[in-house]
Amino acid sequence: MNHFTFLSPLTLAIALASSTAQAAESAPQVPVNLPPAKPGQYVHDVPTIESLIENDKMKPQLRSVILKGYDLFMNTQQLRGENVFNDMNCRTCHMGEGRKSWAAPVWPAATTLPNFRGKNQHVNSVEERIAGCFAFSMNGKPPAYGSDTMLSLVAYHKWMATKAPMYEGNIAGRGFGKLAKPAQKPDYQRGAQVFKDNCVLCHGEQGEGQAARGEVVFPPLWGDGAYNWGAGMVRLKTASAFIKHNMPLGKPGTLSDQQAWDVAYFIDSQERPQDPRYTGDVKETREKYLNFHKHSLYGTVVNGKLLGDHQNTGEKPFLKPFNLKPRDFAQGSDQL
Ligand code: HEC
Ligand code: HEC
Repeated sequence: MNHFTFLSPLTLAIALASSTAQAAESAPQVPVNLPPAKPGQYVHDVPTIESLIENDKMKPQLRSVILKGYDLFMNTQQLRGENVFNDMNCRTCHMGEGRKSWAAPVWPAATTLPNFRGKNQHVNSVEERIAGCFAFSMNGKPPAYGSDTMLSLVAYHKWMATKAPMYEGNIAGRGFGKLAKPAQKPDYQRGAQVFKDNCVLCHGEQGEGQAARGEVVFPPLWGDGAYNWGAGMVRLKTASAFIKHNMPLGKPGTLSDQQAWDVAYFIDSQERPQDPRYTGDVKETREKYLNFHKHSLYGTVVNGKLLGDHQNTGEKPFLKPFNLKPRDFAQGSDQL
């Protein structure tokens, strides 16, 4: 296992797209407009993988577990068919190896959990937070709690948080950021145009993404290879902020807020695998999880079509992974 074989997607993007003048002239020297840290916010200096490899004070056994976590994070497809049933890797959304500001850096989970999580209405551990991304973003089934795979992923998250204060709530660049409400209601047609002009090149006309040498280079945005209807990215506020601050790849901050909302609306109006919390009725599921789905188009009609009204679980041969059970600490039993 070589830890330096991951080509930067930007390098690949430029290589693959260099035949088109558009990509060739747009890739380098673009102003990167990301929000600055606010006064008083904690700015974390995430250690580099090189520093880990060079750290001779660390027990080699620990280093190799952290490196295993890093490898799983970068190439989560190695768990395909077992824990992952779509084309995603963790780094696909948590860019820059999970360390990049405004691309939902993952290390804050290691310093702010256990904590209450609105999405599942109970106190979550780091393992359970990671399990959430497996169930929804990876359309999969989490590795067992305490397994080598889970422990390695946790070790990678914790190591990245080295020296960060515990339970610091005000972290610069956490999540994807937040865009102001758009001046005009997000619109499908305008979104389709933004998509055509800025995204098709890499993500494909049908949002199907692109693979090279059997590996996904540009991830799909909808369809069976994409995140499912229960993933955070189906919320327009989440997708628009991700897109504004990270896409088009190599040109973050170049779309207007309105364009980011419109293209998020367009992408999140497309079909994808069923929300694993599905009750058998999409409108009922929307109502039951309205806290979450009030930000998504799931169970609403767009262009005359009721979104999410199907049984399709993509490649995944089941609907509900084990970690969707509610947890009640009052019972005093180990339920997970
Ligand atoms: C399709 C996109 C996507 C993929 C793929 C994905 N995640 Fe996430 N992840 C999210 C979103 C969205 C959030 C919530 C971000 C926010 O706060 O708005 C999140 C949040 C997290 C957090 C919490 C970060 C914090 O600030 O507390 C962790 C930890 C995490 N993901 C780990 C993972 C791991 C590990 C994988 C791979 C197994 C993964 N994610 C794959 C979209 C994704
Ligand atoms: C130059 C190629 C390129 C362009 C252009 C581009 N993307 Fe991406 N996009 C990527 C890559 C590569 C990733 C995964 C990041 C990684 O692996 O580091 C990604 C990830 C994403 C993701 C999260 C993962 C997923 O598959 O859901 C979304 C959403 C997304 N892009 C939307 C867009 C939108 C919207 C546009 C147009 C405004 C756009 N992208 C333009 C290359 C590109």
